[in-house]
Amino acid sequence: MRSDKVRVAIFPVAGLGTRFLPATKAIPKEMMTVVDKPVLQYVVDEAIEAGIEHFVFVTGRGKSAIEDYFDIQFELESTLRSRNKTVELTALEAILPKAGTTSFTRQQEPLGLGHAVWCARDIVGNEPFAVLLPDMIMKSEKACLAGMVELHAQSGGNVIAVEECAPELAHRYGIVGRGEDIADGFRITGMVEKPPQGTAPSNFFINGRYILQPEIFSILETQERGAGNEIQLTDGLLKLLQKQDFTAYHYRGKTYDTGAKDGFIMANVAFALDRPEIRSLVEADIRSLVHP
Ligand code: UTP
Repeated sequence: MRSDKVRVAIFPVAGLGTRFLPATKAIPKEMMTVVDKPVLQYVVDEAIEAGIEHFVFVTGRGKSAIEDYFDIQFELESTLRSRNKTVELTALEAILPKAGTTSFTRQQEPLGLGHAVWCARDIVGNEPFAVLLPDMIMKSEKACLAGMVELHAQSGGNVIAVEECAPELAHRYGIVGRGEDIADGFRITGMVEKPPQGTAPSNFFINGRYILQPEIFSILETQERGAGNEIQLTDGLLKLLQKQDFTAYHYRGKTYDTGAKDGFIMANVAFALDRPEIRSLVEADIRSLVHP
């Protein structure tokens, strides 16, 4: 029988990260650091908080640092041990996934997000799964995916996290149509990618977290290329919307798009201000920059 529990999460990490060239010539954009952790670690932590048990990374050429990051580094660890660096050692142990809980598959060509998700089909199998866009990192009391998993336990079907934006900025995002209220969200009546100014059906944008039913895989399998000549996940979701229910989870925290330069800088500032050991220094420096 098909499980309704969301156990598996896909992290598509095969994109080129062209907005961060030249840095991303040698570093995967998902490994760029916010304060002292790779962006990807924030997203994996969110998945762990939501009860995810298996982590599927869809990687590509030049992304081997991601696989190494989730592995033991014998030399480093033995050097830290010999120097009695126990705090650093404990921090390294804390991020190591349990044996057998990660899978890495390869998207040979970056053909788009929809294609990257489809590349994980055999690993996920016939059960609902989460997709987390690793360049979107979230700051809130309760992890976004954890709230989605709770909503999904009531609503079933597909759940997409949405966040409110100023109506005049709706043309920048994927926007959903708003139907009847359900628990922490509402029924989704439609989806549109970057609607022309003044035509958006609401001001709720899709923020990079999804719980999807496995029927999406057969849709993505035959899907034609869309915007940017890429196989778009949103195009596939629109087809699935004709057959299955979609519920929006109204996320009330803050999302930082670290794939864009301003979002990356702001994420560093916001997360640094959260760290007691550096907060006062960072705050004083920012104040003196803004008001010299
Ligand atoms: P983006 O469109 O933001 O990523 O995709 P990108 O293509 O890497 O970045 P730019 O626009 O060139 O700067 C969102 C997420 O989907 C992954 C990316 O790695 C990123 O984490 N992705 C995108 C894939 O895994 N495969 C793709 O073909 C496209």
